[in-house]
Amino acid sequence: MSAPNIETIVSLAKRRGFVFPASEIYGGLGSSWDYGSLGVELANNIKQSWWRWLVYERDDIEGLDSSIIQNRLVWKYSGHETTFSDPLVDCRACKGRFRQDKLQDVKCPNEQNLCAGSGKECDLTEAREFNLMFRTTVGAVAAEDDESALAYLRPETAQGIFINFANVLNTSRRKLPFGIAQIGKSFRNEVTPGNFIFRTREFEQMEMEYFCRPEDAPRIHQEFIDGFQTWFQSIGISAENLKLYEQTKEELAHYAERTVDILYRFFPERTDENAQFDELMGIANRTDFDLKTHSKKPEDTEGKRINSDSTEDLSYFDEARKERFYPYVIEPAAGVNRTVLAVLMDAYTEKTNEKNETRVILKLKPELAPIKVAVLPLAKNKPEIVALAKQIKKDLQPAMRAVYDDTGGIGKLYARQDEIGTPFCVTIDHESLEDDAVTVRDRDTWEQGRVKISELKGYLQKRLS
Ligand code: GAP
Repeated sequence: MSAPNIETIVSLAKRRGFVFPASEIYGGLGSSWDYGSLGVELANNIKQSWWRWLVYERDDIEGLDSSIIQNRLVWKYSGHETTFSDPLVDCRACKGRFRQDKLQDVKCPNEQNLCAGSGKECDLTEAREFNLMFRTTVGAVAAEDDESALAYLRPETAQGIFINFANVLNTSRRKLPFGIAQIGKSFRNEVTPGNFIFRTREFEQMEMEYFCRPEDAPRIHQEFIDGFQTWFQSIGISAENLKLYEQTKEELAHYAERTVDILYRFFPERTDENAQFDELMGIANRTDFDLKTHSKKPEDTEGKRINSDSTEDLSYFDEARKERFYPYVIEPAAGVNRTVLAVLMDAYTEKTNEKNETRVILKLKPELAPIKVAVLPLAKNKPEIVALAKQIKKDLQPAMRAVYDDTGGIGKLYARQDEIGTPFCVTIDHESLEDDAVTVRDRDTWEQGRVKISELKGYLQKRLS
């Protein structure tokens, strides 16, 4: 079982402190969200899992953290200034503004009137291109529209990697093939954001650019397509809720030779099976476009430099073959926020207890759970029990994220921890003072067992891994 729809997660996320609407006390800010105390832990755990899997467990990937605001020329030569736009249409009837290519997904704000027979039909303008990059100015400028100070908030982390290719190559003494990984915020002035954290204007990406010889690119591309499906399953997303989508020639970005998206079943409530799925990540073969376009040397067919501003040539010299060329790039690009949403949806289950009450259990992989263990005193008016519980929490904390909670009856406390995905609850009772043992309760089975306090840390560590 997974969540029946995104709304279920929106309500759980707000109730339990995963995600809140941003600027809520001022009426919110369209499709902006803040991560609460549990959400930030979950997102961090996802990012750490991704980083560990790519940067630590492999031997061919380096990390990077580049600036959000770069020289405007980066976005000129990447093509974003001219091509990073969506087709925009206005409706003269409802005054709404929509993406022409997503009209089937939007709800008319005037639907009520239409249904009531106001006679107002949709009346769309011609589409015009709307650039998605957020503009800003750098430094103390005299006028807001001073072109010389114009800069953008990055719409993807990828370009920061391409422009640092030579820096990383030279300092890490790498040889092809190798990759550079980066996690960070990106910004897009989306025309129609929505569906909770699925599409927002500020979001986080986990991107990796893998540089290789052109003839190796198709094979490596396929390896990452397979590898990422396995990674998503390793963090708890079930295979039946994942699907591949091969972009058509018409859909491919101008630089891409082949792109495969990994889709997740974000909309299980939709009757059309295909419409249930939407993009979780994209994996592109970007050819040699990026390193060439940011290099000073390449020339067009008329012998003119394609980049007259770059001071660097980002080609690669293969020592063994005595050959110079521009590496191909395989790019697995995932969204942190969409992964958080997919993980929450997939972990969502409901269970009925013996009193016939329905309980939510978030069956998160222990690795991702915001809290690994909750330590609960059975009698909070008994100072010896409280002191022992607090001591146990303190002893566990260096090894795992532990919390102490005495703000309710034990049934309530268990239910709260189940709902936020805490794999284990440890209960301290009167007997604990006699036998130096505690009760450990399993989130998924609700089974309980007695464990010696001296063995507790090792026992939990073993079960958490
Ligand atoms: N460098 C390639 C690139 O940026 P993309 O498909 O535009 O490719 C990669 O973005 C991933 O970033 C998407 O698959 C999605 O998970 C996430 N993403 C993109 N736009 C987003 C948005 N407005 N809100 C949330 N996540 C977004």
